[in-house]
Amino acid sequence: MKRWLMAAAAALALGAMAQMGDTAKTLWQFMQTQGYQLGWHYIPGEPAGMYEGGAPHGAILRTFTNDIAYDALAQKSFPLPDGAIIVKENYMPDGKLAAVTVMQKIKDFNPEGGDWFWAKYAPDGSVQASGKVGGCIGCHAQKKTSDWIFSGNE
Ligand code: HEC
Repeated sequence: MKRWLMAAAAALALGAMAQMGDTAKTLWQFMQTQGYQLGWHYIPGEPAGMYEGGAPHGAILRTFTNDIAYDALAQKSFPLPDGAIIVKENYMPDGKLAAVTVMQKIKDFNPEGGDWFWAKYAPDGSVQASGKVGGCIGCHAQKKTSDWIFSGNE
């Protein structure tokens, strides 16, 4: 590849990464302004509040859905529509919040990955991973028939 082309490709890749960081930040802010912990729903048919989890997410989990995700999940209508959001809080055995992992459906974002935007946050909201995150996709791919979603489909 010509050097200028490589530089252009690198700049593009960096731009895309920055954009994903922005999307992740916007998503976090949206969750906070929505007050997801009080205003959203638990996964239909799954335990309310905190429940026992396991690797890789955490010993204790709590999972929230916005209205769009909840309505589709309640009817087991897959794939979920654009705008669906699922938030999973990952707690340590001592009850301390370790991370927040999120899936957001964005139309045409990643058709081969179910059009999910993946994000992982530290408890303070700083972005640890976002976008087409290989680790998330690789494992959630087991659940392609239920739109890459484990909860309620195990
Ligand atoms: C090794 C497998 C694995 C990896 C890697 C993984 N997950 Fe999960 N994920 C699961 C399992 C299993 C569940 C269901 C846990 C439960 O009982 O609530 C889950 C649940 C979720 C949920 C709730 C919706 C659902 O599918 O039940 C979200 C949101 C989520 N994961 C986000 C992520 C993100 C973001 C990443 C990457 C940073 C990630 N996950 C990486 C296995 C994985």
